[in-house]
Amino acid sequence: MSNSFSDYLQRSQQRLQAALPGRLGNSGSEFSDAEASAVLHRLFEASEYSLMNGGKRVRATLVYATAAALSESSNDAVLDDCACALEMIHAYSLVHDDLPAMDDDDLRRGKPTCHIAYDEATAILVGDGLQSRAFELLADLDLPAERNLAMVKLLAAASGPRGMVGGQAIDLANVNRQLDLSTLQTMHQLKTGALIRAAVGLGALAGGASAAQRQQLDDYGRAIGLAFQVQDDILDIESNTEVLGKTQGADQSLNKPTFPALLGMDGAKRLACELHDDAISALGGFGSTAEPLRQLAAYIIEREH
Ligand code: IPE
Ligand code: IPE
Ligand code: MG
Ligand code: MG
Ligand code: MG
Repeated sequence: MSNSFSDYLQRSQQRLQAALPGRLGNSGSEFSDAEASAVLHRLFEASEYSLMNGGKRVRATLVYATAAALSESSNDAVLDDCACALEMIHAYSLVHDDLPAMDDDDLRRGKPTCHIAYDEATAILVGDGLQSRAFELLADLDLPAERNLAMVKLLAAASGPRGMVGGQAIDLANVNRQLDLSTLQTMHQLKTGALIRAAVGLGALAGGASAAQRQQLDDYGRAIGLAFQVQDDILDIESNTEVLGKTQGADQSLNKPTFPALLGMDGAKRLACELHDDAISALGGFGSTAEPLRQLAAYIIEREH
């Protein structure tokens, strides 16, 4: 990773970290009933635990970098709302992904998963709450109503059964089974690709992209979205638990369908490189303002965690 991109990523992580707390909502203290307040406070704490605990913040960075690639100057608060909404949906997907009924993982971002640190019911509710809060944020953007509605629809489609949730369903239905390449690709495009593509889509809408620019950015988002999960599968084999902050070998021990399992490690790495090249080609019509997006594409397939 170049020094300039490393600084860029760090600045975007800090920006997101500063924007999140005010947007997560109340801690339960606004309710006068002490018992209700205590319960809500614990739910809030568990949500904060799952949302504020690091993470690379790739989806937030994509929102910022996409808007920066466009000429319309974007409203900073709108971009922060979009970035926070995406990271909330992502954090919810991770909390649920780690539950015993799903991947049954006990380590996330270097700490005990939400259901281990709290309990299963709380982890389910944390996910539910983060999801609702994300849409509440997005419904409230200071943008023309039509554009705002398009953004809500985009995120809803990307996170629902035709997006992340659908991909998770395919993933879980295929434990211990070998998928063919086309089904595996669909699964990855949905479970991970869709939200990453939505991050680019929201950045494009917030930044006032033309229809042609939206299409080019969407081609970029689709390519890096898939590449992201290919690299995630590679790291499950090649990295280690300390660097990953989640259990290395989790896919193998559950016999999950992955790209390295189907294509072999070299084939998976070749695919990641091809997708990176597709992403760069898609940005051909953009000048130097899209440099962070280009560097992000490289980071996605070179990252070590
Ligand atoms: C992990 O996502 C789960 C996938 C969708 C592959 P990230 O690798 O973006 O996780 P964090 O947010 O950095 O922890
Ligand atoms: C995660 O896929 C996809 C979502 C959370 C939507 P994984 O199950 O591979 O993610 P990790 O490896 O646990 O982060
Ligand atoms: Mg999973
Ligand atoms: Mg998992
Ligand atoms: Mg994984």
